Amino acid sequence: MESFDFFLPTKIKIGNGLFSQTKQLIKETVTGNRLFIVTDPGIQQIGLVDQLLSILSEDYHIEIFNQVKPNPKDVDCINGGEAARLFQADIILAIGGGSVIDSAKAIAILQKLGGKPQDYAGRGNVPEHVTPLVVIPTTAGTGAEVTRSSVITDTVQKTKFTIKDVHIAPKLAIVDPELTYKLPKHLTASTGMDALVHAIEAYTCKLSNPIADGLALQAMKYIFPYLRTAVHEGTNKEARYHVMVGSTIAGMAFSHADVAAVHCMAEAIGGLYDTPHGVANSMFLPYIVEYNAQADILKHANIARTIGIATNLDSDKVATEKLVKEMKELAKDLDIPVFSSLSEVNEEDFDALAESSFLNGSTPSNARDITKEDYLNLFKIAYQNK
Ligand SMILES: [Fe+2]
Repeated sequence: MESFDFFLPTKIKIGNGLFSQTKQLIKETVTGNRLFIVTDPGIQQIGLVDQLLSILSEDYHIEIFNQVKPNPKDVDCINGGEAARLFQADIILAIGGGSVIDSAKAIAILQKLGGKPQDYAGRGNVPEHVTPLVVIPTTAGTGAEVTRSSVITDTVQKTKFTIKDVHIAPKLAIVDPELTYKLPKHLTASTGMDALVHAIEAYTCKLSNPIADGLALQAMKYIFPYLRTAVHEGTNKEARYHVMVGSTIAGMAFSHADVAAVHCMAEAIGGLYDTPHGVANSMFLPYIVEYNAQADILKHANIARTIGIATNLDSDKVATEKLVKEMKELAKDLDIPVFSSLSEVNEEDFDALAESSFLNGSTPSNARDITKEDYLNLFKIAYQNK
């Protein structure tokens, strides 16, 4: 029996309408009155930052940093860290999707410890607590509100790297499903797929453990049956609630296990082509499920049964085949541009992409051993099926 631990340093508040209680929730959790808001222009445009200002500005000195881009960039984090240091922030508040939250984690490190994000890449390389983070997710996908990792793009190498350390876990996550009602369809789809992949990879990877398994299976039950509705009926309260809660639970699961080969390939593509993360995950999920099922068919069959697309009457092999088919159909039903995104990939880059996938820190966690050649083959399979 392997030993394992479980530690969640984040206070999680979940509920419709909680956004309006942000001030009270912050005061209950962290001290200080200089608040540095990290966000992106899209979030500002839909008025969420103005709403935050009206909630907080009486009690806090506030500075806004809105330069976060998708597949967050190292250079923006360095600028943000410098701005937070000049402002002498006591608290960093991230409002946005995964890119915003991951950037805020890097900014919190750089404000306190200086340097560049790459200096802290890998596991356990942040030596002390950083500026306290409060996180308000506006997408249901990343799970970053409860994870201790931050995935940043190296703009020179065009690769992604991960900072993983318990010191960067948010102190408070305010999870309000109502904030996702206006999220555009394509973002609901891609971020929702990301959340589902988090649950699947947490459950099947080599670092899985009994607590993370329970969370991952529950996350699947919350995400899968509601995702199509959340995408096609954006104001459906029940669907939005379930996908959002499922996404947070999936975040807890994979931060205590790991992600695996789907993410390794997705991050390679995202680093080189700036492909949206959830789209990139959708491109490779069915093929990795097919590849990994040979290593642990019971768990893969159990996913199919848990999400209700197979029964106990199906053999494990049949259940797994149904899962592969369903993952392709789901991406299609959600209008995720899997095929057009694959078409943009230049075959000459396959070798570099396979190399980058192989070097990803989560490769050793994949359910089935996987070499650079295996990755190369999987890129070819996905490409041929486009
Ligand atoms: Fe992800």
